[in-house]
Amino acid sequence: MADGRTVEELAGVLEREHDLDPDGLIRLLTAPEAEPLRRAADRVRAKSVGAEVHLRGLIEFSNYCRGSCYYCGLRAGNHRIRRYRMTPGEIIATARQAVALGLKTIVLQSGEDLFYTEKELCAIVSALKNMDVAVTLSIGERPKSVYAALKRAGADRFLLRIETSNEALYTRLHPGMSYQNRVRSLYTLKELGYEIGTGCLVGLPGQTPAMLAADLLFFKKLDADMIGMGPFLPAPGTPLAGAAGGEVEPVLRMMALARLLMPAINMPATTALSVKDNDGYQKGLSWGANVIMPNMGRREYKRLYAIYPGKRDIPPAEQLVKIKAVLVELGREVGRGYGGRKK
Ligand code: 5AD
Repeated sequence: MADGRTVEELAGVLEREHDLDPDGLIRLLTAPEAEPLRRAADRVRAKSVGAEVHLRGLIEFSNYCRGSCYYCGLRAGNHRIRRYRMTPGEIIATARQAVALGLKTIVLQSGEDLFYTEKELCAIVSALKNMDVAVTLSIGERPKSVYAALKRAGADRFLLRIETSNEALYTRLHPGMSYQNRVRSLYTLKELGYEIGTGCLVGLPGQTPAMLAADLLFFKKLDADMIGMGPFLPAPGTPLAGAAGGEVEPVLRMMALARLLMPAINMPATTALSVKDNDGYQKGLSWGANVIMPNMGRREYKRLYAIYPGKRDIPPAEQLVKIKAVLVELGREVGRGYGGRKK
């Protein structure tokens, strides 16, 4: 092997310097052993962001989408799913329930649905801000003017995964979309003062360890505040329905590496991870994660928001009970503040 450095040595460099060359990252993604990586990431997580796990109430308010991402069940061409839109009143009422359950961040997510006007979206954001919560948006690519108006209305954070930082793979998987515009959108959001979240899918057809290492270095260069990553799960009604899905372990390694490269980020144990693995939350939290995003929506919406199959149908209050039990088991605690990025 050209690279003689051991997994322990490489994890040690990362733990001390929070930086590593692409070859070292690839080694850690592919080496037979990963426990030293997990332990280093867990130490850095404890030191940098502590035992607190921030809970974000996720509201999936529309499954309409103008996009055609090859992997996503919400792609415009998927006529097998029934589409829904929550009304502004419904969205606000759902947020109120989440706040009553003690959540301090509301995440508004939808497909790329141009139905809601800028004015309507701003009114929803301000209504939520009156509930004394942090507001995160996850609504895809919009013009800078819309991002700016939503920021003025009070939105705090924005999630926009790059999905893959490999331009060729990105272009193959996202017909009609532009890699350059996606990157530009992230920098625009940052410039406007949002905390920004990005991330990637892990285990996409054609994705290599070198591409995953490049994703991590892309996140670091962007100085993202939040990183969300999950396994690719083949979705019915999509061109990749018959493809092999991503595995759990590479996702966990990516999470550990993200934590080591960017000690203060907020990073969820994602829903996709918990769908692929019954112990996904526990594992994610042990490999660097410090966030969980319980779904606050009604069961029929949750079912229809079919980005990928297999989402469990557990009412919000019960989800919180389960999550809290996981935290107790791991010696962690529910985050008390809004859970913004530690400076
Ligand atoms: N499997 C896993 N994650 C998916 N996403 C979209 N489709 C899938 C899939 N089939 C992820 C994308 C998107 C996020 C909301 O869901 O990364 O950004």
